[in-house]
Amino acid sequence: MKVLAISGSLRPDSYNTKLLRAAEELFPPEVDFVLYQGVKAVPPYDEGDDDAQVAPMSVAALRSAIGEADAVLFATPEYNASIPGSLKNALDWISRPLATNTLRNKPVAVVGASTGAFGAVWAQADLRKVLAAIGARVVEGEVAVGHAPTRFDENGRLEDESLREQLQETLDALLAEVEARALVPA
Ligand SMILES: Cc1cc2nc3c(=O)[nH]c(=O)nc-3n(C[C@H](O)[C@H](O)[C@H](O)COP(=O)(O)O)c2cc1C
Repeated sequence: MKVLAISGSLRPDSYNTKLLRAAEELFPPEVDFVLYQGVKAVPPYDEGDDDAQVAPMSVAALRSAIGEADAVLFATPEYNASIPGSLKNALDWISRPLATNTLRNKPVAVVGASTGAFGAVWAQADLRKVLAAIGARVVEGEVAVGHAPTRFDENGRLEDESLREQLQETLDALLAEVEARALVPA
């Protein structure tokens, strides 16, 4: 089973990317975990110029990575109480055309980290809303890593036991959704 992980942060030392790496450790061994690295290359979406054209390679690569995955795990920072613009821009590209976009019916989960107290809960809520509008199957479960600089050890391990349990529950819910969908006749 393949899980694609997408960080909403482009920062090399991102806590959200660390959170995805912590999730990688918690998945069972049969999960093929792939951290997507190409969001920064996605150009600004322009419906007038771009929508009718062949998609840029960066967009085609992102769409196909999602299409090949059984599930997608997002970790988002909060920028000004919502999703970072680069992540929303990538989602706008992915969403076209709406009826056949590669996130449609895809099991997805959302987690998040912030340096403040609340763990990007507003951004996570906004991201769930956007993903649902695009047609993804958004699983229950929230992991809000507040005070992120204090939560990871030097190896990037999530130290807080309760957060690790919440993360494990969210990942289990994501895998359960993949298995439930596999039982639905095509
Ligand atoms: C433009 C900008 C806006 C931010 N707005 C918020 C915010 O609304 N709420 C919050 O908790 N943190 C906010 N932060 C702080 C982020 O939580 C912090 O930079 C975090 O480390 C970003 O995630 P990353 O480590 O994955 O890059 C903001 C940071 C930036 C750069």
